[in-house]
Amino acid sequence: MTAADWLERWQQGRIGFHRQAPHSALEAYWGRLELASDAKILVPLCGKSRDMRWLVERGHPVLGIELSPLAVEQFVAESDQPVLRYRQPGPGKSEFDCTRQGSVELWCGDFFRFQVDHAAELAGFYDRAALIALPLAARQRYAHQLAQLLLPDRRGLLITLIHDDPERGPPFSVTHEEVESLMSPNFELTLVDVSEVDDGLTESVWKMVRRGPTS
Ligand SMILES: C[S@@+](CC[C@H](N)C(=O)[O-])C[C@H]1O[C@@H](n2cnc3c(N)ncnc32)[C@H](O)[C@@H]1O
Repeated sequence: MTAADWLERWQQGRIGFHRQAPHSALEAYWGRLELASDAKILVPLCGKSRDMRWLVERGHPVLGIELSPLAVEQFVAESDQPVLRYRQPGPGKSEFDCTRQGSVELWCGDFFRFQVDHAAELAGFYDRAALIALPLAARQRYAHQLAQLLLPDRRGLLITLIHDDPERGPPFSVTHEEVESLMSPNFELTLVDVSEVDDGLTESVWKMVRRGPTS
């Protein structure tokens, strides 16, 4: 899947990944992170996920990053709260088109161009269908980028899927061994839940804590 493929999916409304209700694992396991309720949460590859509203309802400011402007527009259209638009610089001459609505800030652009200096205030993250949306080489870049963006002790939830065809995706099948190999150099990982969500589809929920320089 290239960026153009994702943009086309949004244009054609092929967004079967979008859920109408907050993810059950978010509701069940977010508390395990023990984050302050005002902790700002990064949501990479956020789509127009309702999970962001769930986080906001619990007091968290949210910073979502999403390629598709349609996703951003559809997200803000679901609320009557006023919208503020502005730009933020990316690397080189690139820019992100940003949209703020209440405590949600959506940066429209490529997550891999999101820069570390915007990230100091990030206290946590939430990944549902972000890592597993990416093919293998991009998953390696994603793990690296996430580690670059988060200071020691920053923490989050990662939700992954395993299915029987490593070539098929998205969602891509990401085994526990792969999660460990991608993430454990920079994060302490705890597998908090594994469940069969469909025939041949296993969902895993991970708590991740960014390692410090000495951990
Ligand atoms: C499988 S969807 C998941 C969306 C959301 N996390 C959810 O749970 O509904 C993946 C999303 O990532 C976006 N995306 C893909 N590559 C991206 C990138 N490099 N930077 C930012 N967003 C990206 C796609 O447009 C799509 O909305």
